[in-house]
Amino acid sequence: MQIQLTEQKQEFNKRHTKTRRRSLSRSISQSSTESFSSAYSDSSEDESSPKDKLQKTSKGLSDFCIKNIKYASHGRREIEIAEQEMPALMVLRKRAGGEKPLAGAKVVGCTHITAQTAVLIETLCALGAQCRWAACNIFSTQNSVAAALAEAGISVFAWRGESEEDFWWCIDRCVSAQTWQPNMILDDGGDLTHWIHKKYSTMFLKIKGIVEESVTGVYRLYQLSKAGRLCVPAMNVNDSVTKQKFDNLYCCKESILDGLKRTTDVMFGGKQVVVCGYGEVGKGCCAALKALGAIVYVTEVDPICALQASMDGFRVIKLSEIVRQVDMVITCTGNIVSRCFHFTMKCKNGCIICNMGHSNTEIDLVWTYSGCVTNFLRGRICGIHLCFCVSVTVVSQALALIELYNSPEGRYKQDVYLLPKKMDEYVASLHLSTFEAHLTELTDEQAKYLGIGKHGPFKPNYYR
Ligand SMILES: NC(=O)c1ccc[n+]([C@@H]2O[C@H](COP(=O)([O-])OP(=O)(O)OC[C@H]3O[C@@H](n4cnc5c(N)ncnc54)[C@H](O)[C@@H]3O)[C@@H](O)[C@H]2O)c1
Repeated sequence: MQIQLTEQKQEFNKRHTKTRRRSLSRSISQSSTESFSSAYSDSSEDESSPKDKLQKTSKGLSDFCIKNIKYASHGRREIEIAEQEMPALMVLRKRAGGEKPLAGAKVVGCTHITAQTAVLIETLCALGAQCRWAACNIFSTQNSVAAALAEAGISVFAWRGESEEDFWWCIDRCVSAQTWQPNMILDDGGDLTHWIHKKYSTMFLKIKGIVEESVTGVYRLYQLSKAGRLCVPAMNVNDSVTKQKFDNLYCCKESILDGLKRTTDVMFGGKQVVVCGYGEVGKGCCAALKALGAIVYVTEVDPICALQASMDGFRVIKLSEIVRQVDMVITCTGNIVSRCFHFTMKCKNGCIICNMGHSNTEIDLVWTYSGCVTNFLRGRICGIHLCFCVSVTVVSQALALIELYNSPEGRYKQDVYLLPKKMDEYVASLHLSTFEAHLTELTDEQAKYLGIGKHGPFKPNYYR
């Protein structure tokens, strides 16, 4: 934990470094689910690029590119700890392990490479898939976890602190293996899908489907579909109820406090905070800040969300009306908010600006570097992906892969689909045992009265 803390503080302090210039020039449409997670590092570590090193696992395998294979045992411990916090995925691994529903699946993946996603990758392998993996984010890879995956025989191409060029090189190495062609894609942010479209479009002849986790990636898929350029069915995991309610709401409710405390040591009691956007993420942040005694204001464009904020006891206000007096600005809109702040905002000296949204587009980096404010994590996403919430999302991803891979010809067309409601409910039910929660069962009479099956789906698809 200490390593992680120190690293984050260093990261926070390095605002005027070369890395900063790179992140400023980074295209806003590129992978940007930036978060910060621990990475095992060693002070004696050499600074040479992993691309220049030839490394081998203890079994002599070399089809991977990571920071240092020597970190594998540390990474294995991290994965084992994550497994304990992801019981539902482990249950799925056990239940479906015998049937091998992904036998023959060749999954190319591009997600954060953390202990939690490692549990997903190893589950997919246990269900019969072969996997090759790259990171969807240049900062979030846990080097030790990448090493543990490589040692386990999985072809991983990722390390923490990749350059822009490295990022695409890793994706390319994943996709363009000589004797291996993917037939399934698991993406977070759409960069992998974009790369295959651009460079290897004929691969889509063999690809059965795409599973996409993020808002941005899903948006891109809908654009492709609208333009008639989506060649295979795609599953939108982002909009599953289980993803939105857990990752966005409950996870952010905890990670907003954790992220800010770890890096700034700030006290929240009595602080004036404005939260931009009262969607799922905004609701979680507001609830957490209010609970610690902060005075919370909300900005919204949508009257329904604004009314919800008002009913929850928050003052809905325009940013320009409040910005001079707040101690913190937290952006959770998924929009490009502060491009318009630029001219109107006059923050208080020392005001902390923190982005919870997906991309680094919510905060105007050039402006915030002026020094009057603390721009937390250089405008990139603040969010610690808590094991239990990640578990909910990754179980959905695994089920979506199984569904697409095993679906009979014609069930899914070249379009974007939501995970069937029944599966969404199944994902939730797998997590209930953690809380020793006991579900009430409908009687035949009750089910008939409601006009639904006794075992679900319990709600229509549009229910959120
Ligand atoms: N930090 C994390 O760990 C984490 C986790 C999940 C999602 N996210 C990201 O957080 C962002 C928000 O996600 P969400 O699920 O809350 O989305 P959402 O659509 O539910 O909420 C966004 C809200 O912002 C409002 N909004 C849009 N533009 C605005 C503006 N200019 N000013 C004020 N309000 C505005 C919208 O009306 C909406 O209510 C997304 O980018 C998402 O990818 C972050």
